[in-house]
This record gives sequence, structure tokens and C-alpha cells, in this order.
Amino acid sequence: MISKKMEEMIVTQYHKELFSAYQYFAMCSYFLDLELDGFANFFRVQAEEELMHAMKQFDYLHEVDGKMTIGSIEAPENEFNSILEVFQKTLEHEQYITKSIHQIVKAALDEADFATHEFFQWFVKEQVEEESTMRNLIGKLKLIDGNTSALYLLNEELLRRQPEANPGA
Ligand SMILES: [Fe+2]
Ligand SMILES: [Fe+2]
Repeated sequence: MISKKMEEMIVTQYHKELFSAYQYFAMCSYFLDLELDGFANFFRVQAEEELMHAMKQFDYLHEVDGKMTIGSIEAPENEFNSILEVFQKTLEHEQYITKSIHQIVKAALDEADFATHEFFQWFVKEQVEEESTMRNLIGKLKLIDGNTSALYLLNEELLRRQPEANPGA
């Protein structure tokens, strides 16, 4: 049986994961509009992973006898000024999500909810990866600095990103 406080935190986190998916679908759409299919693919896969994160939390909450109350999700940003800006905003957003996950882990520990503490360890690791991926791409984009052939190659590289076969297993 999960506490009301932990239940509320997981419900909120679930909505943040869905918002992340919305935001990344908007970024996917931005890149499709620019005919940058590789960048679009990267954000499509990114969005799908966020949906999977939300689903994991949904399932967990019910497993521990909590209840997921579905609320609204705000509209994401749809307009961006540059490719670099999209990735900088993504990194900032992931840093915000990391803080949010850490707060859940800390609260779980404070009330000796070891099951929730353990469940969110996967997300702690996932956030390290998410931030590192975004920093790496920001670095590459700064290096590219508007060079169109280099941008073309990065687009081709990102076209190859596939959804994880069995994420979180
Ligand atoms: Fe996530
Ligand atoms: Fe994420």
C-alpha cells in the first residue's frame, strides 16, 4: 500500500512524462517541417520512450495499490528559432525531469517506501543517459556551426536511431 503523498508524486510524474512526449512530438513536427527526417526520427523515438516511461509509472502505481488519476496536459512549445535551441531546451527539460525524479527518490527514502525507491532507480539511471545524450548532441551541433554537409551527416546518423527493443528490462 502506497502513501497518499507518494501516490500524488507519481501521478504528477506520470503527467510530466506525458508532457515530455508532447514536447518531443512537437519537436519531431518542427523537424519534419524542415525536411530534416533524421532529427524528426530522433524526437519521434524520444517521444515514444517518454510514453513508455509514463506507462511504467502507471503500471507501478496500480501494482502497489495506488490509483492513477488522469488530469490534463498543457500544450508544449511548437515554435523554435534553431536546431541548437531545440536541443538546449531539451537538455533543460531533462534536467528539470531529473530533479523531479530525485525528489521522488528522496521522499520515498524519507518515508521508508523501499519499493518506490527501488522502482525509481531505473529512472535515475535513465536521466543520466538522457542528459548525456543531449549534451553530446549540443556539442556536435556547436562544432557543426551551420556547416550544411556536416549537418547532413548528423541528420543521416539520427535517422538510424531505433526504439529500444525492450526498454527498461
Ligand atoms: Fe522520461
Ligand atoms: Fe526523457
